[in-house]
Amino acid sequence: MINELQQLGKDALAELKDAKTLDQFQNIRTKYLGRKGLLTGILRNIAKVSDDEKPLFGKLCNELKNSLNANIDEALQKHADLKNQQDLFNDKIDVTLPGNAIKCGRIHPVIQVRQEICSIFASYGFSIVEGPEIELDYYNFEALNIPQDHPARDMQDTFYIEDNVVLRTHTSPVQVRIMEKIQPPLRILSPGKVYRRDSDVSHTPMFHQIEGLLVDQGVNFGDLKGILASFLKKIFGESTVLRFRPSFFPFTEPSAEVDIRCVMCGGKGCRVCGQSGWLEILGSGMVDPAVFKNVNYDSEKYSGFAFGLGLERIAMLKYGISDIRLFFENDIRFLKQF
Ligand code: DAH
Repeated sequence: MINELQQLGKDALAELKDAKTLDQFQNIRTKYLGRKGLLTGILRNIAKVSDDEKPLFGKLCNELKNSLNANIDEALQKHADLKNQQDLFNDKIDVTLPGNAIKCGRIHPVIQVRQEICSIFASYGFSIVEGPEIELDYYNFEALNIPQDHPARDMQDTFYIEDNVVLRTHTSPVQVRIMEKIQPPLRILSPGKVYRRDSDVSHTPMFHQIEGLLVDQGVNFGDLKGILASFLKKIFGESTVLRFRPSFFPFTEPSAEVDIRCVMCGGKGCRVCGQSGWLEILGSGMVDPAVFKNVNYDSEKYSGFAFGLGLERIAMLKYGISDIRLFFENDIRFLKQF
């Protein structure tokens, strides 16, 4: 038995010498010292050892067990140190490599145009205000002098939420909401999202508009022309040529659409301006007395002008973009150009 024990010790040490991986070390521990291990097996047979030999046998068994455990622990420690060193070696940092560029977001082109327009009008003394996108029929149509049978109310154009609740089709209702709250004089600019049932290369169901309104005593069409001309030259350049074209909007009288000479062809006629040499930029006019009446303004005392423009359209012309849908596809290759 004692011989057997000594042989077992030698075998174990030999195996330990050859072991390299964590698994192999664990396996050796289990093989000799585990519950069903070889050394444990021999210890169970202590009954067969003669009484004389028992003390020596027990001592040897303990020594072997302790030395095996110590050897395995030491080997495991060495193994861990080695692995640490290896990891350090593998992970070494090459400080001369170029760094990882941190990707930086950009402001969406439509929002850039909005910011630019807002800051121009802020410099003219306009306050920036906002109104709800879910709007009452009253503000979107009725109060703006758009009668029940006006084409703008056609189910084709308007998203109805309930009979008298719509997704606003323009930012003009903000005019009314503000005038209900504030007495003249006032100058406001209201950017925001608007919704129409429309979708093609130049229409999306949601797009952005900016509404402007100025009310005071003695405001006339010349003031409207002056401010819009100054504004459009700031956006499209000093040499921009404007044209005011008579038009109709229910909430302004007289009304005008403002065109600029085509920024693409300089007026010669091209695909962008439909060969006309002019680009429609915004709608405008003197506030209709019927609108003033709805907000209890005295139209004998006060007059004002209003205008509305589409932000995507301005951004398309400014950046030469031919499909409005690009603004909403979120293709990073498109967006990172601005
Ligand atoms: N609300 C008009 C539209 O969406 C644009 C507009 C035209 C606004 C003339 C105005 C205005 O304030 O005076 O087509």
